[in-house]
Amino acid sequence: MAKILVTGGCGYIGSHTLVDLIDNGFEVVSADNFHNSHVSVLDGIKEITGKQVKNYNLNLCDLAATRQIFIDNPDIEGIIHFAALKAVGESVDKPLLYFQNNLGSLLNILECMKEFEVKNLIFSSSCSAYGNADELPVTENTPFKEAESPYARTKQMGEHILEDFAKKYTSYNCISLRYFNPAGAHESAIIGESPTNNASNLVPVVTGTAIGKRAKITVFGTDYDTRDGSCIRDYIHVMDLANAHTKAMQFVIEGKNENNSEVFNLGIGAGVSVLEAIDAFEKVNKVKLNYELGPRRAGDVVAIYANFEKAAQLLGWQPKRNIEDIMRTAWEWEKVRNE
Ligand code: WQD
Repeated sequence: MAKILVTGGCGYIGSHTLVDLIDNGFEVVSADNFHNSHVSVLDGIKEITGKQVKNYNLNLCDLAATRQIFIDNPDIEGIIHFAALKAVGESVDKPLLYFQNNLGSLLNILECMKEFEVKNLIFSSSCSAYGNADELPVTENTPFKEAESPYARTKQMGEHILEDFAKKYTSYNCISLRYFNPAGAHESAIIGESPTNNASNLVPVVTGTAIGKRAKITVFGTDYDTRDGSCIRDYIHVMDLANAHTKAMQFVIEGKNENNSEVFNLGIGAGVSVLEAIDAFEKVNKVKLNYELGPRRAGDVVAIYANFEKAAQLLGWQPKRNIEDIMRTAWEWEKVRNE
């Protein structure tokens, strides 16, 4: 069975992807310095899968330390590179930290790929690379607009770096996956999103309010040109997102890719507004939420959702869950983590 290195493996999407890879017969190893995650996640993965995943606690901006992973694991056939800083607001405040960390770690991974001849890379990109897209749903050919933050810029630059790397090194496969809005938790409620207390993403704010950790939700803007005035996003369940990574790795390891550089949108194609997301939570969990209608948040795009036909056709990927599944599993996880 193929061995895959998952960087950021103890993070939200990384941990759920480790579970899906193991469920699909892959051997895995993780690299995570717990900057935005906790070592206990490895216990959760073992409880779900029965496997104790080895984690290298190191900073991927340290090339010598990163090389050690490949020296110890000469049988690594692919890398899924999640590890990055991803707080949009923080990136505006600390742009150099974001460029150094997110691009430095990617460049070290590419150096190691070449030195140790690891031929397959899946790169964690983001719909935020599109900026305020002119057309909806966005396809992989929708041109990038101006990045709304240095975080989004690092994703645009990361994709361009991979395009140039793949042009030069044609025996290497580089796949960029553009996530829309990941949310929800594993059905077991053993792992899920563990945001820091000042979580800004909508779904953890919703569940944090429902559990009583937050007094209320503020809906950031209800005067947008949308069906109910609130912003529209494409919420994708984290387990559907995890499975897309497994399918993308199978795609390249099995040599099914015609090009050695590909990009895929990973959303479910359903635009859901903030108010509709709140309604979905209340309906599926029978819990009333305390929310107020507030002013717009700087940097928000009005609406964005995906055309995911390319992933469906080339990867054989289909999302199986919707906003109700997201809100149900996110709530189960929130209750368990606060027991
Ligand atoms: C969703 C909607 C808010 C909180 C960001 C990144 C993206 C990815 C996901 C990393 C917006 C509204 C939110 C609240 C609200 N991150 N909202 N009240 O901004 O779409 O995407 O996170 O990969 O790259 O850009 O996600 O969950 O912050 O916001 O009204 O308390 O919910 O205005 O319309 P966003 P979000």
